[in-house]
Amino acid sequence: MQAHILEFIYLIASVTFMVGLKMLSKPDTARKGNLIAAVGMTLAIFGTIFLYKDAQGSHLGNLIWIFAALVIGTVIGLYMAKSVQMTAMPQMVSFFNGMGGACAALISIIEFNHIQHSGSEVGMSNLLIILAGLVIGTVSFSGSIIAYGKLEGKIGDYNLPMQQVFNLGLLAGILVLSGLMIFGQVEGNMWFYIILGLSVLYGLIFVFPIGGADMPVVISLLNSFTGVAAACGGFLYDNYVMLIGGILVGSAGTILTVTMCNAMNRSLLNVLVGNFGGGSNASGANKSASGGTTRELGISDAAILLKYAKKVAIVPGYGLAVAQAQHACHELESILEEGGVSVKYAIHPVAGRMPGHMNVLLAESNVEYNKLVEMEEINPDFPTTDVVLVVGANDVVNPAAKNDPSSPIYGMPILDVESSASIIIMKRSMKAGYAGIDNELFYNPKTYMLFGDAKDTLTKLVSEVKSL
Ligand code: TAP
Repeated sequence: MQAHILEFIYLIASVTFMVGLKMLSKPDTARKGNLIAAVGMTLAIFGTIFLYKDAQGSHLGNLIWIFAALVIGTVIGLYMAKSVQMTAMPQMVSFFNGMGGACAALISIIEFNHIQHSGSEVGMSNLLIILAGLVIGTVSFSGSIIAYGKLEGKIGDYNLPMQQVFNLGLLAGILVLSGLMIFGQVEGNMWFYIILGLSVLYGLIFVFPIGGADMPVVISLLNSFTGVAAACGGFLYDNYVMLIGGILVGSAGTILTVTMCNAMNRSLLNVLVGNFGGGSNASGANKSASGGTTRELGISDAAILLKYAKKVAIVPGYGLAVAQAQHACHELESILEEGGVSVKYAIHPVAGRMPGHMNVLLAESNVEYNKLVEMEEINPDFPTTDVVLVVGANDVVNPAAKNDPSSPIYGMPILDVESSASIIIMKRSMKAGYAGIDNELFYNPKTYMLFGDAKDTLTKLVSEVKSL
């Protein structure tokens, strides 16, 4: 009877994962979706703890250890989730993902030792799953930790000489050794731990050379690895909810990876070997102008331009997140709307530093979802837009992506703000964005630079528009 109840709980949990994932695809249902999936996961965990019985009919032991780990993990997780800054979300995702990979690898290590000590044969298919979980989980763990360090700005980009050859050689070594173990050509703990060590090394050197701007793509790829590694655990324990959860994470991570690559118009291979936009150097770069001159305008002129426009588009970017200017931005939008100006937000798929970054940020300040317009939909609208206000965005409006084949972002679809009547660019200096390149839009005769911190400038703009 208990076994049937547990199967039923697993079924409910699996359904909540799918419903939750589906709801995560829209900002207005995302919170609820997350909660629904979390409830399903809680049910599955407590169902397993209290209802699972092994072949001998005994329940799980070590309950004190299990609950101690649950309490410690919950406290740390809650603290991290509550205290994390919005701009540090990718790091946190990467860290949690690494922990998931480590768990999957630990399952493989424990099961391998368990079978060895029980004196029974491991069996080819079991060994295949154990080794797959070990290798994929370990690569995900060590890769995610390096990704975390890079996003924190603590680890730079390192390239070994002949990096790709070395990576391929190491991967081939791991696969050959695993194959030899599975087919019984080599045996014993030593080879198992050599494979573990090589996998740690592979995760490290796989992520070390990848440039900062590409880190979200790599994190999403590592996320899919963790899902696959968890699914291996599901196979091992014959546990459907773990299998389904793992497959969902694996496939969602893969879809996200492909979507991000498409949004940047780059292949995954190019991301992995291309070394585009080395983060730390790029963000500090102050490339010289391509011979052009810029025009500045003051707060009051900007306020007049916006107040007397019919149609305004706001392009939010990474700088909006850095300045935490979303509330001031929403206030400006509301005041303009009250004065009869139509205002929309133009959302580029890779604006900011993580997927959906701008949507999350603007949702935080209660911007209506129907005001957020995706790139494909808003691009045809720019020729009839009076003013485009670019707030802390740079690469996503850089025309070099269309005009300059030598540019590292050439081919990336961009927001066509150039075709609007006037453009106001709000940023602190002439510094480059993440790709580390100059932006010819700044020198366009229709462009006005409005220098300053986005929150500060937007707050001043709000009071200026009010006073008009
Ligand atoms: P960026 O091109 O990085 O430009 C952001 C701009 O914001 C900078 O030029 C900076 O100029 C300005 N800024 C920073 N702090 C500011 C503040 N406090 N107030 C006002 N301005 C501030 O951002 P973007 O246009 O959003 O493009 C995103 C980039 O990240 C793209 O290259 C994209 O490919 C890459 N990327 C994103 C993702 C995802 S999933 N979103 C994934 C991979 C790569 P100043 O320093 O002069 O102020």
